[in-house]
Amino acid sequence: MEAIQFNLKERKTKVTLPESLGFGKIFTDHMFEMDYNEKLGWHNPAIRPVDDLQVHPASMFIHYGQTVFEGLKAFRQESGEVVMFRPDKHFERLNNSSRRVCIPEIDVDFVLEALKELINIDKEWIPTNRGDSLYIRPFIYGSDAFLGVKPAKEYKFILLLSPVGAYYPEGFKPVKILVTDEYVRAVRKGLGDCKTAANYAASLLAGQEAVKKGFTQVLWLDGVEQKYIEEVGTMNIFINLKNEIVTPKLNGSILPGVTRRSVIEILKEWKMNVVERDITINELVDAYDNGNLIGVFGTGTAAIISSVGWLTYKNKQMIFNDGKPGELDLKLFNELTSIHYGLKEDTHGWLMPVEQKEVVIS
Ligand code: COI
Repeated sequence: MEAIQFNLKERKTKVTLPESLGFGKIFTDHMFEMDYNEKLGWHNPAIRPVDDLQVHPASMFIHYGQTVFEGLKAFRQESGEVVMFRPDKHFERLNNSSRRVCIPEIDVDFVLEALKELINIDKEWIPTNRGDSLYIRPFIYGSDAFLGVKPAKEYKFILLLSPVGAYYPEGFKPVKILVTDEYVRAVRKGLGDCKTAANYAASLLAGQEAVKKGFTQVLWLDGVEQKYIEEVGTMNIFINLKNEIVTPKLNGSILPGVTRRSVIEILKEWKMNVVERDITINELVDAYDNGNLIGVFGTGTAAIISSVGWLTYKNKQMIFNDGKPGELDLKLFNELTSIHYGLKEDTHGWLMPVEQKEVVIS
């Protein structure tokens, strides 16, 4: 791969971030991009000011959805150091998603170096408040112009940066979730375990209808019987029972979350009985009725740890912990964010430092 080309913009004023960042509304000054074609492979790596993309109206991803993405985060620690959380796992997952929709894989080591350069250039945009971070959105799309259905021959890879706060409008307060059996998000052997646009498109109508009814999001059941609990779409789900903490096992239609995996590791270290297994919605309702259900929480890069305060399935309305964050959820939130912000030693080697260098604009 050639060296990265730099076309940097001079900032005349200091970056000022609003007190409340929300999610995905603010973008930094620069992005990284590179192109793919069959002759050159991935080539043309460049960091340049964020600007509109040039897209042909017949670009294949627009019509047939051949696109994948990731979401990971960088944090500014109290010491001033900048770190990313498990970026290697996110780029491995990006390549897994790509394989499933015939997108050529990227060289993870090269992209990690490019990402460090990009973050260093836009480091002023990294927020410092606990819970805030720099969200990193890598994505790839099939870019050549052709109207037949087949894998594209040309692709664009982009790294986009966005300072963010809490993902949900509730902030880090418990969310209200509706269990849907009216729609399905994914089926086994389909695309459910890939981060590809199709899964999110499939979730929109159910999400919109849930919001109209006063819910934050929906909890998806399996695509065949609508019996087994799967995930929320923006986060994986954990059910905190009296004698075990259950998260649905990865079965091909659930996204293998990096935060999910980290939480499982933390719970095991805490000697808690965390189990990956199938769990039906009826088992959850029974546990609630029998007083065996302590709470439900979600995990995700954007959501971090999010308590579910209310869960509705058909006519059954469940409320956990009086709608307040659960004790275990808070403990996990504190543990993860303490690692993110360097308040606790990173004993797992989950953080990757971003070296801060002087940026020269020529
Ligand atoms: C994430 O947690 O990074 C996600 O991808 C969820 C959502 C913003 C799509």
